Amino acid sequence: MYSFKEKYGEYLSLSEKRLEGFFTRLQCKPQVLDDSLKYTLKSGGKRVRAVLMYAVAEMLGVASEDVSDFALAIELIHAYSLIHDDLPEMDNDDFRRGRPSNHKVFGAGNAVLAGDGLLNTAYYLLIEKCKAGNRYADAAAFMCSCAGVHGMIAGQSADLLCAEKGIKTEEMLDFIVTNKTGKLISAAAAVPAIIAGGRYFLELSRFGEELGRLFQLTDDVLDEEGSLAATGKSSGKDRAENKLTYVTYYGLDQCKLYADLICTKCLGILEGIEGDASFLRDLVDRVRYREA
Ligand code: IPE
Ligand code: IPE
Ligand code: MG
Ligand code: MG
Ligand code: MG
Repeated sequence: MYSFKEKYGEYLSLSEKRLEGFFTRLQCKPQVLDDSLKYTLKSGGKRVRAVLMYAVAEMLGVASEDVSDFALAIELIHAYSLIHDDLPEMDNDDFRRGRPSNHKVFGAGNAVLAGDGLLNTAYYLLIEKCKAGNRYADAAAFMCSCAGVHGMIAGQSADLLCAEKGIKTEEMLDFIVTNKTGKLISAAAAVPAIIAGGRYFLELSRFGEELGRLFQLTDDVLDEEGSLAATGKSSGKDRAENKLTYVTYYGLDQCKLYADLICTKCLGILEGIEGDASFLRDLVDRVRYREA
């Protein structure tokens, strides 16, 4: 009998094993570089991007080994983005994954370098994977574009700009969320599709983007309503930092209605895909009602 929890655990353990093997081989010098990289990587996190990638791969009949380097790379890119996102010059957050943020332990300079190191290492893995053939090279290029200046970086830049200038428009809010969160989650869903020869690429990249939107919406709600104990992050920071978020723009009640709308969109996209989408359907629901 299928159980969402068990299945999540299965995908999570694929991700953790790959990460563990990677840590063991990665011995950086000086020691502070090694420590700061591993501090954030080893501090858990839901690994939802890797889990989503493994789940889509299974649905499309792509072997987990074929996506494992991409799943590792996406978690490295995500971890780097969190380290930089918490810096005093960005969101100025003191806690991450239930522990002091990277820069609180190692200082801002080392935190910048830890982030740079994770990003470079991810790109090294992706470039190596390109040798496996054109589909892998296309998948790597897609992931890089999602993480880069037309993706996550653009969203993060707009996020800072809007906070600094007090810009509060729906158009900018959508730009921020689509890029800072939607694009990387879209890459997680689209990479297995590209490796499968482009099967359901459009549907899955759109699904990832919508799931990313839902994910950011619940993140914004948790910033308002959640607790450090549950999320591992300080709450109330978005308002304090004048951020343009779903909550600060629409208010909590509207957010809940909007979340329902995005869920309907996500489930509608899945209906157009052949294969067993039970896990992905349940994932939408878990993201909608997550508390961490
Ligand atoms: C936090 O991402 C940053 C956002 C895009 C909202 P996660 O909530 O996936 O962070 P971890 O990896 O579980 O810590
Ligand atoms: C983060 O958005 C997006 C990233 C690309 C890191 P937030 O700034 O809301 O994420 P948290 O709340 O700090 O995890
Ligand atoms: Mg931020
Ligand atoms: Mg932040
Ligand atoms: Mg947030």
